[in-house]
Amino acid sequence: MKEFWNERYSSGDFAYGKAPNEFLVAECHRIKPGRVLCLAEGEGRNASFLATQGFTVTAVDQSRQGLEKTKSLGSELGVEISTIEADLANFEIAPLYWDAIVSISAHLPPAIRKNIHHQVVSGLKPGGIVILEAYTQKQLEMPGIGGPPTHQKEMFMSLAELENELEGLEFIIGKETQRNFDEGIYHQGLSAVVQIVAQRTT
Ligand SMILES: C[S@@+](CC[C@H](N)C(=O)[O-])C[C@H]1O[C@@H](n2cnc3c(N)ncnc32)[C@H](O)[C@@H]1O
Repeated sequence: MKEFWNERYSSGDFAYGKAPNEFLVAECHRIKPGRVLCLAEGEGRNASFLATQGFTVTAVDQSRQGLEKTKSLGSELGVEISTIEADLANFEIAPLYWDAIVSISAHLPPAIRKNIHHQVVSGLKPGGIVILEAYTQKQLEMPGIGGPPTHQKEMFMSLAELENELEGLEFIIGKETQRNFDEGIYHQGLSAVVQIVAQRTT
């Protein structure tokens, strides 16, 4: 899989564009000033946007190619982003450390996803939030482009699964919905997603 993503990011273009995810832009006002971790951050469009908003941002991804582009997009925008090249299967999120954890289209095999989501809950500081948008299986019937391929249906997410995996957080937004995408060449058109903003209250 790592090779797949390195290959995708080896083009001069940005696979999902340089502009940040729309749901993140709409909801990031809820993040308290401080540290933000962007999971499976790819080429850094979300991390660099958050850094321009004054947050101290760390981006983690398995793709070296993606993280190099994250650094260069950050430089282009005049901000610095810390990057960590890691497989989320082995990644440890420090407990009680993050003001926000961002997960945009971070589709993983269920066992890895569940483990990471449990660590997301413990990794947030009290008052910290997770902002997540991911494709649901309904995407397979939609006209839009984006999300895991048909043979990896288990990597789609649902609200019910996420409520379970993020148990302990208070959901401010939790919905399955449809919206139009215009993000590079790989996220386009009317698509089916789950959107979450959830807060650690204790
Ligand atoms: C669809 S892209 C999304 C990139 C970014 N979040 C965005 O919205 O532009 C999915 C990303 O997940 C990363 N990824 C997939 N499996 C991973 C794993 N096991 N560990 C770390 N990163 C992973 C890929 O390298 C890729 O960058």
